[in-house]
Amino acid sequence: MLKIAIVGTGWFADKHADLLTARDDAKVVAFVGTTVEKAEKLALRYAGSQAFDHLEQMLDTCKPDAVYICVPPMAHGYIEETLIARGIPFLVEKPLGIEEESVQHILSLVESKKLITSVGYHVRYTDAAQTAKKLLETRKIGMAIGSWMGNMPGVSWWRKQNGSGGQFIEQTTHIVDLVRYLIGEVDEVYAVYAQRHMHTVHDHVEVADVGAVTLKLASGAIATLTNTCMLPFGHKAGLELYTDQGVLEIEQSRYLKHIEKTQTTEFFDAANPYERESEAFLHAIKTGDRSLILSDYADAVKSFRVTTAALQSSISGLPIKLRS
Ligand SMILES: NC(=O)c1ccc[n+]([C@@H]2O[C@H](COP(=O)([O-])OP(=O)(O)OC[C@H]3O[C@@H](n4cnc5c(N)ncnc54)[C@H](O)[C@@H]3O)[C@@H](O)[C@H]2O)c1
Repeated sequence: MLKIAIVGTGWFADKHADLLTARDDAKVVAFVGTTVEKAEKLALRYAGSQAFDHLEQMLDTCKPDAVYICVPPMAHGYIEETLIARGIPFLVEKPLGIEEESVQHILSLVESKKLITSVGYHVRYTDAAQTAKKLLETRKIGMAIGSWMGNMPGVSWWRKQNGSGGQFIEQTTHIVDLVRYLIGEVDEVYAVYAQRHMHTVHDHVEVADVGAVTLKLASGAIATLTNTCMLPFGHKAGLELYTDQGVLEIEQSRYLKHIEKTQTTEFFDAANPYERESEAFLHAIKTGDRSLILSDYADAVKSFRVTTAALQSSISGLPIKLRS
């Protein structure tokens, strides 16, 4: 039975704990929060788990086989460094952070230890993404159009630039990662962002609430991704791929529509992608076989880099080259 600890005590810590508890090869042994009280709230719900407000104390006491990191973007760094120093594999929720230097530093530490890592780009594990990937083997992509159009999450860290990094880094990163997974690497990024509305509704909103980002891909294909968080409701998130044989529409990461000249085919997800993500990670820990992990730290850094380049471009007004 694998002993899993979870750092973070919010919505997604709870979601991962639920999925882990349903498995018969793993149990959640600890939660680490910013306060013991917060960690206790979750620990009470998962029998046999303990609450901590200090990561190293938890590691010394519980000796977990792996750790799930479910903290906001600004809280990354020390947690990963501590786990890497002790050689403890981790699954970390996207985004990897908000700041390039710290993420690159963690990458170099991960690589020096050859540590097993997984990053929460769960969309890769959907049947929609997998089916699209297969269909694309025999199609030529011209361009992609992606979006994440919704409302602003209620948590305060999300609204601060140095809390979440902004919507493109925090949410739309899923679509950026899907573009990389299906079409390949990004060479150049150009972005325009604006604050149109949300800063007039709530105090201390620093992040842009509309954005449009253009990507040049190494293959020669192009992509345009748009996002907004100024709607009063979640509207849509997804990616459309325009190919020589028709259109592939991945919607809300759970559903694929394949539009050809004479017919339209729909594919629905048969399994929970978060379960598959955990299965791949835990399988790697048990067997050493990492082949089922579809996004590890090194790969996720490339998606992160595209999103931080977009922020840089939105500030400078200039395109940012990622590869020459
Ligand atoms: N893959 C997905 O589909 C998905 C979905 C939701 C959230 N997420 C990601 O998960 C992360 C957490 O999101 P959430 O919705 O759970 O946020 P949340 O605000 O509900 O919870 C975050 C928790 O982390 C705690 N925290 C902050 N700093 C900490 C630290 N240093 N040590 C321990 N705990 C700390 C906070 O007290 C809070 O309880 C975010 O990066 C988010 O993008 C991913």
